[in-house]
Amino acid sequence: MTHREKILVVDDEAVIRELLSEVLQDDGYVVESANNGQTALELLRSSDDFVLLFTDILMPGMNGIDLLREAKRLRPSLIPIVMTAYATLETARAAVKEGAYDYVLKPFSLSEIKLAVANALERHRLARENARLLELTQLFHISEQIATIRDENHLLSFVLKTALQRVGATRGSILVTTSDGKALEIRAGVGIPGDVLGAAVDLDRSISGIVAKTGKPLFVNDIREIPELARLARQLPETSFISVPLEQKGQGNGTAADTGSSNHRIIAVLNVCQKARGEHFTEGDLKVLSILANHAAAALQNVRLIQDIEHAHLATVESMALLLEARDPYTQFHSQRVRDVSVAIAINLGMSPQDIEVLRLGAAFHDIGKVGVPDRVLNKPDRLSPEEWELIRRHPIIGYSVLEPIHFLKQGHLDVVRGHHERLNGNGYPDGIKDKEVPPLVRIIAVADTYDAMASDRAYRKAMPENLIIAELRKAAGEQLDADVVNMLIHLITSGQISKTNGNNR
Ligand SMILES: [Fe+2]
Repeated sequence: MTHREKILVVDDEAVIRELLSEVLQDDGYVVESANNGQTALELLRSSDDFVLLFTDILMPGMNGIDLLREAKRLRPSLIPIVMTAYATLETARAAVKEGAYDYVLKPFSLSEIKLAVANALERHRLARENARLLELTQLFHISEQIATIRDENHLLSFVLKTALQRVGATRGSILVTTSDGKALEIRAGVGIPGDVLGAAVDLDRSISGIVAKTGKPLFVNDIREIPELARLARQLPETSFISVPLEQKGQGNGTAADTGSSNHRIIAVLNVCQKARGEHFTEGDLKVLSILANHAAAALQNVRLIQDIEHAHLATVESMALLLEARDPYTQFHSQRVRDVSVAIAINLGMSPQDIEVLRLGAAFHDIGKVGVPDRVLNKPDRLSPEEWELIRRHPIIGYSVLEPIHFLKQGHLDVVRGHHERLNGNGYPDGIKDKEVPPLVRIIAVADTYDAMASDRAYRKAMPENLIIAELRKAAGEQLDADVVNMLIHLITSGQISKTNGNNR
């Protein structure tokens, strides 16, 4: 049977070293030996694949207990077994306290040695398997969580926090490749100054840039030993760090050879540094971060794909709405003008970018329900009959029902479409909501829509002059229309920021 586990035998007696080496080598283990504690520690430092340490307790110089303590500090996963001729309770207890797994009494039989080694290795194997299972379960759970996130910034900060937690690091960042692929942007950070978020980082002048360009992770335990990296790391006081790339899947052939030539496949770089209590990073940390980076890359791609699809859908709906108006020469470009006036008012009222975006799109298709109103009614130059009025009054509800099934539209979009003819005093349609029931975005489009109706020619009348429009708006303010919104629009008109000839471009 061949084992390949590496065992270190430490004893000041050459006979014991040779005997143990021979027996264990016969069993297929790789064995190295040392005749004192210092030499043993040097061997442990130079090689990280020792699994088992067999040490005598009573040795000149460093004794076995001290060696054990140092060895465990250096290689926490090492399994120590002590050999002693004086199996007093005290030495055994001291050895166990320092992490010894077992002890054998001198003089020992060969079968005793073999049994102790087999037991220790079995325990080691089980412990490793358990740890790996636990790790896998946790990573699986994390990847499930990652996959549910729909917002890019939220995703990046979740990935960074999880990465730091998993490897016990206290500082880190995620940099995302810019759309032209020529730089990286700092998009998430923990333990770094807040004002660097959003900053661009040159590919040639940063450690993240190297990782993005090569597509290979960097695992550095002492950056001072790598001058070309240390030169790039002025901003990092730490010596030890791991940087892993987030690689885009499904493009290129995925071979290592083509990663160097193209940096477009690396969509982000994850950096962690400063492990708690000054410990060094391990190969295990690198592995965990690489798996996490894999999941994060897939999730990031998904989030972006979904965003692209949503934008494409919304753009389609928007152009359909604008196209619909082309059939009516009097209202052509009406929605675009209402959109632009609404957005101008919302910006000047200090609304959030998210609300402004909802209003922009909602305004663009606010009249989409006119698709359900016959042309002869829409374009009628004469007075409308009550039945024809009823048809017109249905268009906000038709628009609402057309758009409602589109799941990526927000409630705000639907409110704007359904509510743009509502009035604060409850005299509007279709629902006759009033006062606080009328949402802020609806108040804005109601004003913008009223304004454009007065400011442009209609089948049944010409556009009204500006002073009359302002007078009408003032009359409606506080009664039918929101006074703050009206005041803002009048301010924009009188200061020349909105003019009725602007959009009236047919
Ligand atoms: Fe309308």
